[in-house]
Amino acid sequence: MSEPAAPTPEAPDAPPPGAPVVEVTGLHKAYRVSRQPHEILRGVSLTVRRGEFVAVMGPSGSGKSTLLHCLGGLETPDGGTVRIDGVDLYALSDGARSRFRRERLGFVFQFFNLLPNLTAAENVSLPFHLAQGSSWPSRLRPDGALQRRVAGLMSSLGLQGLQGHRPDEIAGGERQRVALARALVTDPALLLADEPTGTLDYHTGREVLELLLELGRTGERTILLVTHDVRTAAYAERVAIMRDGQILEEVWLGRRAVHDTAPLLERLAVHGL
Ligand SMILES: Nc1ncnc2c1ncn2[C@@H]1O[C@H](COP(=O)(O)OP(=O)(O)OP(=O)(O)O)[C@@H](O)[C@H]1O
Ligand SMILES: [Mg+2]
Repeated sequence: MSEPAAPTPEAPDAPPPGAPVVEVTGLHKAYRVSRQPHEILRGVSLTVRRGEFVAVMGPSGSGKSTLLHCLGGLETPDGGTVRIDGVDLYALSDGARSRFRRERLGFVFQFFNLLPNLTAAENVSLPFHLAQGSSWPSRLRPDGALQRRVAGLMSSLGLQGLQGHRPDEIAGGERQRVALARALVTDPALLLADEPTGTLDYHTGREVLELLLELGRTGERTILLVTHDVRTAAYAERVAIMRDGQILEEVWLGRRAVHDTAPLLERLAVHGL
């Protein structure tokens, strides 16, 4: 078994290092299939600093979603550590970890995961209520400050006028923008996105990626996205190439912009991907 290659040295236009938001070291995860352990993550280490937009890219089955789930406290790793904003996630009790996840992390998934019976605005405000520990009836009656926050967030994502619509009454790209607004409503330390454009057509997917780029321009949003698609990964400033549960190399692409895919394709080819 070959050792993962050392990360490529940071390019001259790399940003000054901010505080680490994600510190993953030596992460291991195995699933049992027909009683046999099947190793999915085999010693993954990754650091993402405040304000960075990092993509993890690898073929289907390489362990990207498993990594993201371990990072987000959704699946417990078998070994290694995950620190988010300095907090050792798996040293927390289950309850404290769930609270941390609700308050400090934002998730965007491939299939939107919006609740069909709630309006767009109610879907967006839901994590805020969950983080506050509100009981169910009050969730649907947001106070004025939250209403203004949801309206502001939705309009900044081009969703003005859609607050009262239910998920099946809006287009796919709009649904993903609602999911993005929902992920941001608690002002999370870290936004985790798993193939967020996977079900969208090329142009609609690009709009969502442009929004992610735009969000990061303030330097305050830290984004970790996983994808198998090189054109999606090229929106990130740094790309960790993953194969068979290991990060083989990290490729620096440059500051926030849509990058040429050529340097990334070149490195992928070196790894036979
Ligand atoms: N709950 C589970 N039980 C058993 N095996 C699993 C489980 N979840 C994932 N796997 C296996 O782990 C491997 C990695 O899965 P993972 O979903 O992390 O890959 P991925 O890189 O996200 O792939 P994709 O690009 O298709 O989403 C796959 O072989 C998958 O079948
Ligand atoms: Mg996946």
